[in-house]
Amino acid sequence: MSEHDISVTVNGEQHELSVEPRTLLVTALRDELGYTGANVGCETGRCGACTVRVNGEAIKSCTRLAVQADGSEIETVEGLGENGDLSALQERFQEHHGLQCGYCTPGMLVTAETFLRENDDPSREEIREAIEGNLCRCTGYQNIVDAIEATADQLGEHR
Ligand code: FES
Ligand code: FES
Repeated sequence: MSEHDISVTVNGEQHELSVEPRTLLVTALRDELGYTGANVGCETGRCGACTVRVNGEAIKSCTRLAVQADGSEIETVEGLGENGDLSALQERFQEHHGLQCGYCTPGMLVTAETFLRENDDPSREEIREAIEGNLCRCTGYQNIVDAIEATADQLGEHR
């Protein structure tokens, strides 16, 4: 099958690659570029394990073709912390035991981080709505909501 040359910026680093027209963005990120933080779960847009940010918007990268991302700025879970440190949200997930197996965690973190950029003083209900597209089979969500709420509280201290 013929391939297409595309260019994407991932976590600030520019990449040129050739992909088949059918290649999913999540596949290109994982298999071509080595960003394995985005997980593949359902491949049908339901579980959210593959969530990354494209041009500032959290999207499920199994629902987008790599060729559609040509020219985009992409952020994956690997880009959340700085200089090897965890982000505030990642630290709160650790403190509040917001993960168990961790399979949902990269997507959950990207969704929550994006949400907190838009709403840094959310109610618990708003947090639950924000992560409704990210399924977790292990935690029961309570600790995840606690972690996101604690991050918002921390952001609030700097407001
Ligand atoms: S793998 Fe993309 S939403 Fe489940
Ligand atoms: S921690 Fe296992 S699926 Fe969420």
